[in-house]
Amino acid sequence: MIEISTDLIKAKKILENNDLVSIPTETVYGLAGNIYSETAIKKIFETKKRPLFNPLIVHIHDKEALTNVAIEIPKNAAKLASYFWPGSLTLVLKKNNNIPDLITAGKDTVAVRVPDHPITLALLKSLQFPLAAPSANPFGSISPTTAQHVADYFPNNLSLVLDGGKCQNGIESTIIGFEENKAVLYRLGSISVEEIEAVIGAIEIKNNNEDAPNAPGMLSRHYAPKTKTLLVNDIANEIQKYKGQRIGLLLFKPNKELFPNTITEVLSETANLKEAMSNLYAAMHRLDKENLDLIIAEKFPNNNLGKSINDRLLRATKN
Ligand code: TXA
Ligand code: MG
Repeated sequence: MIEISTDLIKAKKILENNDLVSIPTETVYGLAGNIYSETAIKKIFETKKRPLFNPLIVHIHDKEALTNVAIEIPKNAAKLASYFWPGSLTLVLKKNNNIPDLITAGKDTVAVRVPDHPITLALLKSLQFPLAAPSANPFGSISPTTAQHVADYFPNNLSLVLDGGKCQNGIESTIIGFEENKAVLYRLGSISVEEIEAVIGAIEIKNNNEDAPNAPGMLSRHYAPKTKTLLVNDIANEIQKYKGQRIGLLLFKPNKELFPNTITEVLSETANLKEAMSNLYAAMHRLDKENLDLIIAEKFPNNNLGKSINDRLLRATKN
């Protein structure tokens, strides 16, 4: 049986014992294990049913610990780390030799970040090793943003979720790597492209498998509810086509038109992108439990965090 608690001592013991704990972060909950324990890392892949070609993110407690994990840190990487850590930025850097191949899927790079959550920072400080932590969901499904989401996914094959409340940002970190010393964005996330560019200037985006062989795991279908999902510009028009069906609506902001006989989730009453992002996955989890025929999501304005939200919604619509 899984336990939801704030018992840091217990979490530490489990992790030191080569087992897994789900940890809160400001983005989504992670499924964490000791990066140096082959037993723990194998368990992460097994528990998530994640393919071994998809590498994990290493979590460290501060940027001084980076040199234990990565080498040859480009100037702009150091600049981004100083600016955004602790926070929702993952850097892909040349790996230190002591990082096991299982973590990096055999690549010579490693993904690393300092998460911005007091409980998890305290846990990381108390440990002698960094934590590898993918999002705590079965491979391909919606990431968890509450401890209960994690418990619902893994009632029997995980013993502890550290409860850190609702994740503030609500979608995964933004991933940035370096190709010939130039910054490249591999995953849109809870720090916007505009915020990154304000620090290091224009950045190339390569966020799907076709143009990013360097970022395995950026699969087109991901973050997906079990219910068939559509992403549209005009909800009122689209909904006409599905008369008589059980429809769930995922709206950015309140809509003057009433949609009778639908279950509607409004992500932000005040059309605030950050608030909508923080509510997105929980709303998707709720709609997915309603036995709907279809979820229709409204496209977001395609800038700032709207671009990151559209990325997740688009991946949720793929079969
Ligand atoms: O917000 C987050 O980043 C959360 C929390 C728990 O920290 N973690 C997370 O992990 O989203 P995960 O495993 O769901 O996504 C990690 C992605 C992989 O799919 C892969 O695309 C990329 O990070 N990645 C990891 N190592 C990489 C590497 N060496 N090179 C390129 N991409 C890498
Ligand atoms: Mg994930």
